[in-house]
Amino acid sequence: MEDLPGLYQVCLQTGDGGADATGRFSDPAWLGHRFVGPYVALEPGFSWTLEDEAGPCGYVLGTADSLRFSHRFESDWYPRVAGELDLIRRAVPTAPSDLEFEQRRWFAHRRWEFPQPMEAFPAHLHIDLLPRAQGRGYGVRMVGMLLDAMRAARVSGVHLVMHPENDRARRFYLKLGFRTHTRSREAEVLVRDL
Ligand SMILES: CC(C)(COP(=O)(O)OP(=O)(O)OC[C@H]1O[C@@H](n2cnc3c(N)ncnc32)[C@H](O)[C@@H]1OP(=O)(O)O)[C@@H](O)C(=O)NCCC(=O)NCCS
Repeated sequence: MEDLPGLYQVCLQTGDGGADATGRFSDPAWLGHRFVGPYVALEPGFSWTLEDEAGPCGYVLGTADSLRFSHRFESDWYPRVAGELDLIRRAVPTAPSDLEFEQRRWFAHRRWEFPQPMEAFPAHLHIDLLPRAQGRGYGVRMVGMLLDAMRAARVSGVHLVMHPENDRARRFYLKLGFRTHTRSREAEVLVRDL
């Protein structure tokens, strides 16, 4: 059984464009229920976690078929967490931070943005490592494992969405053969053929 709360903490502590978002969210569930839980639950074959003696310190998560995943998110994942998110929303009397507001708004509509043509890049991924696990070669190895699994599943290409000001992440992905597909003020989409 995965240490889901530990992985949600990793997501929170890297959730502000790669920096720590603790204090910007009333509850780690706003990020974890979107970016971690559904992958661990629905795509265990494309999920790897990194742990040291202090506990979980990173993960790489993904899906080979983003469109199918978005449908399963709706039918199999969202109903599991909707009640909890509603309780958290009601329990926070003050105005949420911009970051939390963004996630609340996303959960209200759950609209996915896919790069076009979707058939060229049907897979997507997320990777987050805590500072103590960064700059040690784990990122390259973990993305490498995920891309190998996607190739074995005969996927044609993969995309990911990152914060456009996360320069370290962009450098990392370019080194791994990704290229920028589209870029706006809120989001940069990178793609890679497999
Ligand atoms: C972005 C992120 C995934 C990159 O992972 P990373 O493992 O830290 O990757 P980096 O490229 O920064 O570090 C690798 C560096 O570690 C160093 N290194 C040390 N030991 C190494 C080893 N055994 N093998 C390879 N590199 C090693 C090298 O200097 C290498 O850099 P180089 O390839 O330019 O020589 C990670 O920093 C992270 O999770 N950041 C916070 C969250 C985030 O921004 N996620 C992405 C959201 S889109």
